[in-house]
Amino acid sequence: MLKLDISKVAPFVSLETINALAPRVAEAQKSLEDGSCPGNDFLGWLHLPSSITPEFLAEIKAVAATLRSECEAVVVAGIGGSYLGAKAVIEALSNSFQWLVGGKGPVILFAGNNIGEDYLSELTAYLRGKKFGVINISKSGTTTETALAFRLLKKQCEEQMGKEMARKVIVAITDAKRGAARTCADKEGYKSFIIPDNVGGRFSVLTPVGLLPIAVAGFDIDQLVKGAQDMEADTSLAAQYAATRYALYESGKKIEILANYQPKLHFIAEWWKQLFGESEGKDGKGIYPASVDLTTDLHSMGQWIQDGERTIFETVISVENAEHQLLFPSDDENLDGLNFLAGKRVDEVNKMAELGTQLAHVDGGVPNIRIAIDRLDAYHLGQLIYFFERACGVHCQLLGVNAFNQPGVEAYKKNMFALLGKPGYEAETAAIQARLK
Ligand code: PA5
Repeated sequence: MLKLDISKVAPFVSLETINALAPRVAEAQKSLEDGSCPGNDFLGWLHLPSSITPEFLAEIKAVAATLRSECEAVVVAGIGGSYLGAKAVIEALSNSFQWLVGGKGPVILFAGNNIGEDYLSELTAYLRGKKFGVINISKSGTTTETALAFRLLKKQCEEQMGKEMARKVIVAITDAKRGAARTCADKEGYKSFIIPDNVGGRFSVLTPVGLLPIAVAGFDIDQLVKGAQDMEADTSLAAQYAATRYALYESGKKIEILANYQPKLHFIAEWWKQLFGESEGKDGKGIYPASVDLTTDLHSMGQWIQDGERTIFETVISVENAEHQLLFPSDDENLDGLNFLAGKRVDEVNKMAELGTQLAHVDGGVPNIRIAIDRLDAYHLGQLIYFFERACGVHCQLLGVNAFNQPGVEAYKKNMFALLGKPGYEAETAAIQARLK
């Protein structure tokens, strides 16, 4: 099971202080369980893992098998919670040089998460002449970034594959009834999956939103779900992490830096940032979630972490066992002076870098939380996902915010639509033009 070590928080916030939060944590847990918390119509994620049936997973796998057999590439169109979970798991489980070594299944690409003209041009150029499919993911079915990319991809897919085949390789994951993505899927006759009403985007990785792309990439969704189920069965560590974060926040630590020592975990951190950032950053409250990839960023952000403003704490995700073994060779000339490492595994050096960094950061005034998983596989990622979701839910109750809305995200959309002259935004367009004069 995942391990949590908060002993390196003790020099900054005593364990008594954290333990004293137990009644409030229990209350937070209860409010999630009995649905009395704010945003209680979005609690579908809470017991989602244990509700997933083998039949449902078999249906996902069947659709994934079609995409795997028919396509050289599959584009996952989605933004925020509609792509980060899938991207995070796929990247964590993939060979780091996937692009070069290739694999048995299609290349998985992502779009609809930005409006970069160069990105989309280069993507469509790459797809030219290829057999490709699209998984169009949008709960609202109206998100501009995703809709824009999907319009381009649908057209290209139909042109290249023919309408009949396009119908086979375009899959929609959206609301049961509402939104343009649902209307389009029903009209075109695409295979579609429903995002449950009571599961918000950033909590949706264990719905088809994450499961289908991950299955198309060839990874074991049974094990992913199993890991999450095991974590759902015992939420005590997630609650302890939430209590520790809260005690640190109350003591003036406003920024949490999620650190990893495996480049493959980069997008797990991106997913985590969205989960915590969008859930708790509201009403003038919330820990700012940041991340670093180590040891890489010790040569860029390391100085700040060691010596900058002391408003940060660090949470390390440590993977205890590497998948491969690579030993440092001995060298007769020893020009680089590294013979003292000869015969050691690369991972041993990485682990000493991790320990050395932890000690240095604690000495420098940075409280340290350590989350350890045995290995980077689907089962342990499933554990990590539910652990963070649960901790986020509990922490938001401690903060007193609604974890499940994101009212702040609307502000940019209103301005963008007004600037683009979207029908219905005439008053906003006039107001914004006056402001820009
Ligand atoms: O967590 C969330 O709710 C958001 O990040 C959404 O996932 C994101 O805005 C995409 O929304 P949609 O799936 O409606 O296109």
